[in-house]
Amino acid sequence: MPTLTEKKSIRPASRAQGRPAPELIFGDLWEYDPAPETADPKLKARYDLFIDGRFVAPKSGQYFDSINPANETRLAKIAQANAADVDAAYRAAQNAYTKVWGKLPGRERAKYIYRIARLLQDRAREFAVAETLDGGKPIKESRDFDVPMAAAHFFYHAGWADKLDYVAPGRRVAPLGVVGQVIPWNFPLLMLAWKLAPALALGNCVVIKPAETTSITALKLAEIFQDAGLPPGVVNIVTGFGDTGAAVMGHPIAAKVAFTGSTEVGKIIMRSLAGTDKKMTMELGGKAANIVFADAPIDQAVEGIVNGIFFNQGHVCCAGSRLLVQESVAAEVLAKLKNRIKVLRVGDPLDKNTDIGAINSAEQLATIKRLVAAGVKEGATLYQPPGVLPAKGYYFRPTVFSNVSMSHRIAREEIFGPVLSVLTFRTVDEAVEKANNTAYGLSAGVWTDKGSRILKMSTELKAGVVWANTYNKFDPTSPFGGYKESGFGREGGRQGLLDYCQLA
Ligand code: NAI
Ligand code: MG
Repeated sequence: MPTLTEKKSIRPASRAQGRPAPELIFGDLWEYDPAPETADPKLKARYDLFIDGRFVAPKSGQYFDSINPANETRLAKIAQANAADVDAAYRAAQNAYTKVWGKLPGRERAKYIYRIARLLQDRAREFAVAETLDGGKPIKESRDFDVPMAAAHFFYHAGWADKLDYVAPGRRVAPLGVVGQVIPWNFPLLMLAWKLAPALALGNCVVIKPAETTSITALKLAEIFQDAGLPPGVVNIVTGFGDTGAAVMGHPIAAKVAFTGSTEVGKIIMRSLAGTDKKMTMELGGKAANIVFADAPIDQAVEGIVNGIFFNQGHVCCAGSRLLVQESVAAEVLAKLKNRIKVLRVGDPLDKNTDIGAINSAEQLATIKRLVAAGVKEGATLYQPPGVLPAKGYYFRPTVFSNVSMSHRIAREEIFGPVLSVLTFRTVDEAVEKANNTAYGLSAGVWTDKGSRILKMSTELKAGVVWANTYNKFDPTSPFGGYKESGFGREGGRQGLLDYCQLA
């Protein structure tokens, strides 16, 4: 991320002549001219369910609004699926599995998956704008991360489809059948790609439910399935709330279910499926530690910390929401961190200069505010840069808490917002102990000059992913998943494929 001074054509807000000072200027921030992304997101006024290759009205006739969290306006009406719709989706998937998809050779399935990847690339700008409008994330993230990474997952798994003999050398792999999937709102299209691509590569058919606040890009992807000629029923998309999700997870046809979302709902699903023979994978919450040792490159670490927690408004299960910094450099790191967040731009997600967009929903904003209030009440020291937030929409200032202790709620609970809790440590053992002292174990970051220390930390940290001198880096070849209450199963890489097949 370039620092402010590296950017061109900037001038101080206070010197902007003949114009009132813009609202969104934060702290020491310099003013840029607005630079909204202008691609047409090609939204429909109403989105139906995608079942058996066609868009169909929900049996209940009910629709709900998907709104733009940046300004609270309605973007589209979304169909609300009930149990009968979910049942129809499963029957279509079962039919497609037994008659077509399960029988196709891998090299034929690969052609469809490649086609989906290429069509998504063709429409990348349109999808990026739709994702930003519906979810609130900055356009530079949906444009440079979500959409290209979603396409990359389809490409990667298309490449596997005709090489499945190498998934588990010496064993034969077979698909599971029909799988049910429920995904959250933080990376709507990318989570869809993570879930669909491996399932399809292995020959499974799918019933999937996007999150209720972010269904639009899933239904736009359904248009791409039609354009790609994907056989009807191979992917079915049912939209709705938690009850629709429960129907997807509990359907008797589902041979396997995969869920990404809150630990709370993950536990409800696990309880409800206990005793059935369904396979399950769960990707749940996190409370990752980003650990900075005194010998770390401090300026780079500060960038990594900022990326770790403010990326996508902190709506990231593997967000580096706890900073563990070695005591001797704690004051320096904290000072640099405060300086850095003063120049983060909070505001219109469609503006190409925006760093922190809108919080996904009013409910999530309320959750963040509640936990931040708990942090203040429990005695942690709060820092937020000055500045004016947009009057409409759901926004939250980047927030850093210092003087945090391990018992504080802000050090233990997932906040899922742009809120960092800073703790200190003196020794390597203390860093490991504090980092692992959480119910979660999804990810961690280590910043140090010493390779041997990186290896030691990555062995001792109970986290599915450990980043070294970087943070929030993703690649389809690399498995992702958690320890403890962060869930089980892996997504991505060869390991992720193993969760969508049976071995003989
Ligand atoms: P959630 O877990 O309720 O929602 C995730 C998905 O599960 C949505 O598609 C939802 O419709 C569905 N769902 C809800 N209840 C269900 C049920 N009983 N059976 C099946 N599916 C169900 O998450 P929510 O309420 O949106 O966010 C609450 C908190 O969860 C956040 O504040 C955050 O801490 C955490 N979260 C973690 C995510 C992660 O990636 N690990 C993603 C989203 C939220
Ligand atoms: Mg929305």
